[in-house]
Amino acid sequence: MKTTIPTVPTPDDAAVWYEGRLYLADQRILPERTEFIAYDVAADVADAIRAMVVRGAPAIGVAAAYGVVLAGRSAYAAAAEGWKAAIESDLERLAASRPTAVNLFWAIRRMRSLIDTLDASDPTDRLLQEALAIHDEDRAANRRLGDLGAELIVGPTNVITHCNAGAAATGGYGTALGVVRSAYAAGKIRRVYADETRPWMQGSRLTAWELMHDGIPVTLQADGAAASLMATGGVGWVIVGSDRIAANGDVANKIGTYGLAVMAKYHGIKFMVAAPTSTIDMEIASGAEIPIEERDPEELLSCGGRRLAPAGCDARNPVFDVTPAALVDAIVTERGVVLNPTTEKMRALMV
Ligand code: MRU
Repeated sequence: MKTTIPTVPTPDDAAVWYEGRLYLADQRILPERTEFIAYDVAADVADAIRAMVVRGAPAIGVAAAYGVVLAGRSAYAAAAEGWKAAIESDLERLAASRPTAVNLFWAIRRMRSLIDTLDASDPTDRLLQEALAIHDEDRAANRRLGDLGAELIVGPTNVITHCNAGAAATGGYGTALGVVRSAYAAGKIRRVYADETRPWMQGSRLTAWELMHDGIPVTLQADGAAASLMATGGVGWVIVGSDRIAANGDVANKIGTYGLAVMAKYHGIKFMVAAPTSTIDMEIASGAEIPIEERDPEELLSCGGRRLAPAGCDARNPVFDVTPAALVDAIVTERGVVLNPTTEKMRALMV
C-alpha cells in the first residue's frame, strides 16, 4: 500500500495528513531512502508504531491521534449507529502498540475525551481537527521549550545527544534537537556529538541526517565513546529527550541514557532532558513504575540484516532505561524549566 505524495519527507514530516490519508515517513529506511507509507486503517497505524515506521514519543502520539481519526471514519462508514462502540477495538489496538512512551496514551485519552462529547453524526471532521491540533501544539511546544533550553546553555560549547529526539521524533522541530536548533542559532553550540544508538541506530540514521540537513556540525560516535569524549573537557551539556517522566522527575529514555547521566555527573557535565508536558506522567510516583519495552533479541543479535552473534546466543533487549531525577540538572518543557527535579517542583509545573 505504498504511495508517494508530492514531496519527499524532510525531518519535519514524520506524519503528514494529506487528502484524507495519513502518510508516515518510513523511519526504518531513512536516510538511505525517503519514502512515505499511506494509511487508511487504524489497525495498520498501530502496526506501524510497533514496527518503528514512526517512532519517538511525541510522533507516536501524533500518529495515534490520526489513527483515531481513521478509526472513527471507518466505524461511521460501516454503521453510522453505534460508531463510538465500534472504534473501541481500534483504540485498544493503538494503545497496545508500544508501552513506554506516555504520549501515546495521552493522545488517545485526549481523542477519547473529544469522542465523549460528540453526537451520532459523522465524527471525521471533528476528530481530524483535534488530531491536527495535537500535531500543531506539539510543534509549537517544541519551539518554546527549544528556546527555554537554549537559554540555559552558556556557550559556545559542545553537546552530546543520544537516540533521536528531533523533528522526526515529534510533531516538528524536536525536543533535544529543538534545544540544539535554538542554541545553535544563538551561537551557543559548536558541535553536536551524536551517539549512534544501538540497536536501531536512531543517532546515525536520524540525528545525523537531521543536523546535516540543517547545517549544524555533527560528529557521530559509538555509544561507548561518550565517556572518553567527556574526559577531554570540551562538552558542556548532555541533551536528551524522554519517553516518560514520572512525578518525581525520573526520566525514561532510550537505553543508554542512564549511563550517560552517570558519566556526565562524574565529569561535572550538565544533563538536560527536553520534553513537552505530554511526556510527563503525574499518575506514577517514580520511574520504577514506568513499563520498559523489551523488543525482539534478534534486533541485537544482528546488525544491518547480518547475524553477528553465535547461533543460540542469549540476548536481552530492553529499549529504554530510567535515569534517576538526582542525575538530572534540568527538565525543560514548554511550560517552563524544572531545575534539579523533585515531586514538589514537578507538581508546581503541572498545576
Ligand atoms: O525507540 P524509539 O526510537 O521510539 O525511542 C525514542 C527515544 O527514546 C527518544 O529519545 C524519545 O522518544 C524522545 S523523542 C522527542
